[in-house]
Amino acid sequence: MSNRTDHPWWERGTIYQIYPRSFQDSDGDGVGDLAGIERRLDHVAALGVDAIWLSPIFPSPMADFGYDVADYCGIEPLFGDLAAFDRLLTAIHARGLKVLLDFVPNHSSDQHPWFVESRASRHSAKRDWYIWRDPASDGGPPNNWISDFGGSAWEYDAASGQYYLHAFLRQQPDLNWRNPELKAAMLDAMRFWFDRGVDGFRIDVLWHIVKAEGFPDNPPNPYWRPGITERDRLIQQHSTDQPEAHAIAAEMRALADSYGDRVLIGEIFLPNDRHARWYGTPERPQVHLPFNFQLIENAWDAATLRDMIAAYEASLPPHGWPNWVIGSHDAPRIAARVGEAQARVAAMLLLTLRGTPTLYQGDELGIGQVDIPADRIRDPQELRQPGIGIGRDRSRTPMPWDASPFAGFSTVEPWLPLNPDWPTRNVAAQEQDPRSMLTLYRRLLALRRAHPALAVGDFRLLDAPDGVLVYERRHGDERLRIALNLTDSSKPLPFAPEVLLSTLDPAPDGVLRANEGVISR
Ligand code: GLC
Repeated sequence: MSNRTDHPWWERGTIYQIYPRSFQDSDGDGVGDLAGIERRLDHVAALGVDAIWLSPIFPSPMADFGYDVADYCGIEPLFGDLAAFDRLLTAIHARGLKVLLDFVPNHSSDQHPWFVESRASRHSAKRDWYIWRDPASDGGPPNNWISDFGGSAWEYDAASGQYYLHAFLRQQPDLNWRNPELKAAMLDAMRFWFDRGVDGFRIDVLWHIVKAEGFPDNPPNPYWRPGITERDRLIQQHSTDQPEAHAIAAEMRALADSYGDRVLIGEIFLPNDRHARWYGTPERPQVHLPFNFQLIENAWDAATLRDMIAAYEASLPPHGWPNWVIGSHDAPRIAARVGEAQARVAAMLLLTLRGTPTLYQGDELGIGQVDIPADRIRDPQELRQPGIGIGRDRSRTPMPWDASPFAGFSTVEPWLPLNPDWPTRNVAAQEQDPRSMLTLYRRLLALRRAHPALAVGDFRLLDAPDGVLVYERRHGDERLRIALNLTDSSKPLPFAPEVLLSTLDPAPDGVLRANEGVISR
């Protein structure tokens, strides 16, 4: 494994997540679109990433902003059409970048023709494409499962006298992957996009896609307390991470592999031991990269991160390539969570750990806290469970491109507010500023491309003063050391520096200043 030279693009490269509603509007409706993304590809290319993951662009009633898919093989008219997609794909490929689409296999929209047909009658040919159950003996839901967005995961359909399952909104009925016809239809949808030339998929809530036979109640979570999302009242023991879901992931992988150099990334939230199983085995692999969200989930201090990184590395199977995520359209902005000074340290951490980094749009500008006024909240999860701080709109605000009206994102008021500091925190302003977050990201990404030790080198944690994280990346004769000060006081630098890059300017001599990170030879 160590110092392999045959790393595929998805191991060497960096992924950039675009949230299409909020990247660039090209037709003046306040919502981003595919032609807008095409217009802004210079920014993505100049950043120095290798692949773009697009959050869902398929026809959708937008109850969950695209994660409710009404046609797996089309393009949402708000975003464009298939011709616009083909143009975008060609333009992205022309820049040497890859494209990943967001495949949403656990559930469709309730407006999908399959569900409309499934719902029409108990005897419909597609009844079994979704998960229908008789009421419990008291007439209530078939079991105690809770939707991830709060409330029962079952919705009663009076016309047919049965309940259907929805792990998320009732507008997102769960598909039944135990039905061979449904499975074949979904794999055909993946083929449709592979045939069009996409380089892979990020697979939405992959560990959810099969439920335990018999639908037993989920056990209560002893750690739940009020103020935590309602979903966590129960441990999702029987509703997620079933062996049959792993078997399906292996089938998806076999399909991807039949096309050659394509990649599958699974959205999976599980403890390390169960998370690692989603790599599958060398003989029967599953996803290339089970998304690792632990930089988002853990407290921002050196000791916690050190233990977490060590445990994650140790959990990987020999054939499992690591990966790291620091922000997404679901998570709070990193700069809002740890502050702007530490967000610079976080950027260095993300781009120097061993494993494929995924960077979320707008984090390269250090967008921080955006308070969404109550009357502009759009996130269905927050609207269903207000007041517990789980709103996702704050991470989905439009990209601020320049100081022109609406930040150059649109010609009208955007669907969500801009970051309040957009007149100064925007791409055009930061491009001119050698100290900006954007400049730091560009430098980090350039360094990662220039140094195989950073992209694919071995990884070793080193001893460090309290509050500091130090590790080494090694490839061939090259040995780089990274020291990150997670505190706001200065610390001794535990090695003689020949600093390649500091998160602060100019380079230090012998000390690690407050909130400073350095990459050193
Ligand atoms: C994933 C998506 C999230 C969506 C949910 C349901 O977690 O990232 O945005 O709401 O799945 O599809």
